[in-house]
Amino acid sequence: MLKIAVLVSGGGSNLQSIIDSISAGELKNVEIEYVISDREGVFALERAKKYGINTITLDRNKYKNNLNAEIHNILSGKVDLIVLAGFLSIIKGPILEEFRHKIINIHPSLIPSFCGKGMYGLKVHEAAINYGVKVSGCTVHFVEEDTDTGAIILQSVVEVLVNDTKETLQQRILVEEHKALPRTIKLFAEGNIKVNGRQVIVKE
Ligand code: GRF
Repeated sequence: MLKIAVLVSGGGSNLQSIIDSISAGELKNVEIEYVISDREGVFALERAKKYGINTITLDRNKYKNNLNAEIHNILSGKVDLIVLAGFLSIIKGPILEEFRHKIINIHPSLIPSFCGKGMYGLKVHEAAINYGVKVSGCTVHFVEEDTDTGAIILQSVVEVLVNDTKETLQQRILVEEHKALPRTIKLFAEGNIKVNGRQVIVKE
């Protein structure tokens, strides 16, 4: 059984995609041990509670620089994979060493475009539209010291349409995110992801 923790900050639609894949039997031998939020009262926590998943809120305003140490304390030795699903705090410090190549993040663009510090939510889609790219998409990658620079595991491409607003593009990319994240967890659970420096070899 692969034990995972899902870290959230908002609506939790990506968390829901993992819960749904487990319920549907598509994600086998995977169990969500914890859902951790860095802010209070977000809808992702409600989603988790509905399925009886253990939820923890670590308010980022309260924990400040100790947030990472606190998350590490809770998860050390307890889970096999940490999934950042719309988690807005930056992961840093010793947790990155214990969980090297065991923390994944989903980002709503084709990295290395429209990513890095401060690039989250609708800002990403606005930047893509303003730049005039013809395709955007989502990226699942490993988490390392710098923001959004870890090795890329999966990417899905979405066409940018002439009439797209940042909201419509976000919605179409979210549909792909909801496939890419459970798919990556499945590949990880089945031992089908091999890392060779920046190259990640995925066996389907
Ligand atoms: C998603 O677009 C994800 O890629 C990004 O934050 C958003 C979170 O959405 N990191 P949700 O909370 O999973 O609905």
